[in-house]
Amino acid sequence: MADFPAFLQDHADCERKASAMAMSFVAKYPDRVEIIPELIDTGIEELQHFQRVYAYMEKRGIRLVKERWQDPYIQALSGQCHTDPIDRFLDRLLLASIIECRGAERFRLVCNAIENDPELKDFYHELWVSEAKHGNVFVKMALNYFPEQQVYQRLQELNRAEGEIVSKLPLRAALH
Ligand SMILES: [Fe+2]
Ligand SMILES: [Fe+2]
Repeated sequence: MADFPAFLQDHADCERKASAMAMSFVAKYPDRVEIIPELIDTGIEELQHFQRVYAYMEKRGIRLVKERWQDPYIQALSGQCHTDPIDRFLDRLLLASIIECRGAERFRLVCNAIENDPELKDFYHELWVSEAKHGNVFVKMALNYFPEQQVYQRLQELNRAEGEIVSKLPLRAALH
């Protein structure tokens, strides 16, 4: 909250990347027809989030920033993925879920911290609900293809790894 413009710049980037991530599943797994409509819906919703964050930034004269480095959070999470293509597919879906859930958690914190701007507070409340929904959507997608026990066991492992990764990241005005 101490550097909200910088937070918005990172937030906008994350929404754009979330949209790209949903669409990259479509590109990488065109044969997984059961999940394509929901991936497209998610990609559109994330792009709409990006559009709204950018509109808010534009009104306040805050520019987007050029990406300077790969997000260390995403990079560390990607390192958790198996190399075997089937296991990797599950890992990618579950990591997407974890990233969405972490986003929901952060937006809840931001929403609660906003004072004197009811419109912005409502916006972050709406995002918190939307990202929590996405968190469930990606697990549901995984359950189309993998047994429940495998999905939840791996989800627990990846959640634990994510907790360790996030605890080592430097504190900055960003989503992660
Ligand atoms: Fe989003
Ligand atoms: Fe999302």
